[in-house]
Amino acid sequence: MKISRRENFNAAHRLFRKDWSDEKNASVFGKCSNPNYHGHNYILEVIVEGSIDPETGYVLDLKILKDLIKDEVIERFDHRNLNLDCAEFADLNPTTENISKVIWEALRPKLDAKLGLEVILSETDKNKVYYSGS
Ligand code: NI
Repeated sequence: MKISRRENFNAAHRLFRKDWSDEKNASVFGKCSNPNYHGHNYILEVIVEGSIDPETGYVLDLKILKDLIKDEVIERFDHRNLNLDCAEFADLNPTTENISKVIWEALRPKLDAKLGLEVILSETDKNKVYYSGS
């Protein structure tokens, strides 16, 4: 059985590699490599898979998941410049792929090992990235 919690956060970023020239970054990442950054309204869905606890009737209390996402994701990334404000992306290109992996790695140790975890992250309503540890 799977349960999920959806949250939003707003953040700025620039896709680029420090070891590439501005020209090469522009040719690979296009407008997403604008040196003055740009923002997204990220949509995050966190999916937890497990069995129903016979005592509570829950797979996981969604209030616990809500608070975990708030502490580990929203507080860290909301209204931030990912490149400049977040140490995770000092040397890691803040693509949707990399952001979803960072989020998964932050949440994974906070959940019981018997629960499955998947993160779905969108920058726009047309593109989604799915990460569940690989
Ligand atoms: Ni972008």
